[in-house]
Amino acid sequence: MKIAGFGVEEWLNVWEKSATYDIAQSTVSSMTMHEILNLDGKGGQSFYQMLDEQKMNYGWIEGSPEFKKEVAKLYDDIDPENILQTNGATGANHLALYSLIEPGDHVISEYPSYQQLYDIPKSLGAEVDFWHIKEDADWYPDIEELKQLIRPNTKMICLNNANNPTGTLLSRDFLEQVVEIAKSVNAYVLVDEVYLPLDHPENFASIVDLYDKGIATNSLSKTYSTPGIRVGWTASNSDLADLFRKYRDYTMICAGVFNDLLAVCVLQHKEQVLARNRKIVLNNLEILKEWVAQEPKVSVVLPQAVSTSFIKLDISGDTEDFCVRLLKEKGVLLVPGNRFDMPKHARLGYCTDEATLKEGLKRLSVFLHQEN
Ligand SMILES: Cc1ncc(COP(=O)(O)O)c(C=O)c1O
Repeated sequence: MKIAGFGVEEWLNVWEKSATYDIAQSTVSSMTMHEILNLDGKGGQSFYQMLDEQKMNYGWIEGSPEFKKEVAKLYDDIDPENILQTNGATGANHLALYSLIEPGDHVISEYPSYQQLYDIPKSLGAEVDFWHIKEDADWYPDIEELKQLIRPNTKMICLNNANNPTGTLLSRDFLEQVVEIAKSVNAYVLVDEVYLPLDHPENFASIVDLYDKGIATNSLSKTYSTPGIRVGWTASNSDLADLFRKYRDYTMICAGVFNDLLAVCVLQHKEQVLARNRKIVLNNLEILKEWVAQEPKVSVVLPQAVSTSFIKLDISGDTEDFCVRLLKEKGVLLVPGNRFDMPKHARLGYCTDEATLKEGLKRLSVFLHQEN
């Protein structure tokens, strides 16, 4: 089986540890263990006491009942039984695609988005058509184009809502139109939902609440600020959950006792985590807006309080070369847009701590003007 290199991950693997001002990441500033264990106001004492007595066996294979119960609450009407814990959203996407996609299938993937959503189906032998997002349409894809792309043998439509790298949220109305098109050929709709808008979360609609053949993948890595826990999940109907169980036994067994305990702690205190993150996102979005307004060499379609943005750079040379020199000379890390097949753009993860963001943007401005 052949697969393309993962553009963004390969970039971050090489460069992220050398950044002084890392404004490339898409997580809302990660929480420390201290922050996680203080969510219950008890300072972690009871957690460590409980951990002391905990056997490090395989634990709950599909995720603990508490975990499943908490995750099910994120949806309108999902039985906790149909939640399967995975190794991050990466594991969830892989599980769903590996379980369903066969050679010769036709898959339509929003493009660009998270690379798993088109390169795993390709690696499994599917024919993949790209459904392009458009900057002049606020980074929405065109529903008329989906009507042209759909075929009788389309097995799956893959979306990333909200989108990485742009931070654009697809509306409920738009998703309902996608569902109607998918229904016409009985196709699945897989939506990677790791990015939730933090100002008006009610504007977000999960695909599993809209469509019986909808599959939602998600994790605690972005909106919930704990990528280090490595916990994600699939949410689906019960037939799909049974199918995923079969493939899951071959690929992961479980996510780990310690990880599950921490995941439950984060989910049981999700209102506090979301309040913390709403503050960070809205505050930093204001800083980003003000910076763009006074920076003539940058423009942006603003993200919808989602922790990633995609800026357009007024530069003449190669985008990747620009980003490497920006890092080496100014210590500032972006993800170059060519890693999303969109040169002259860059992913700017603005939800780091305020001081890093401010200094990173200042240095980026200096570099843009000295260079061009
Ligand atoms: C859209 C999307 N899905 C999944 C992931 C990976 O998530 P996890 O850390 O939960 O595996 C990322 C990380 O950048 C992402 O942007």
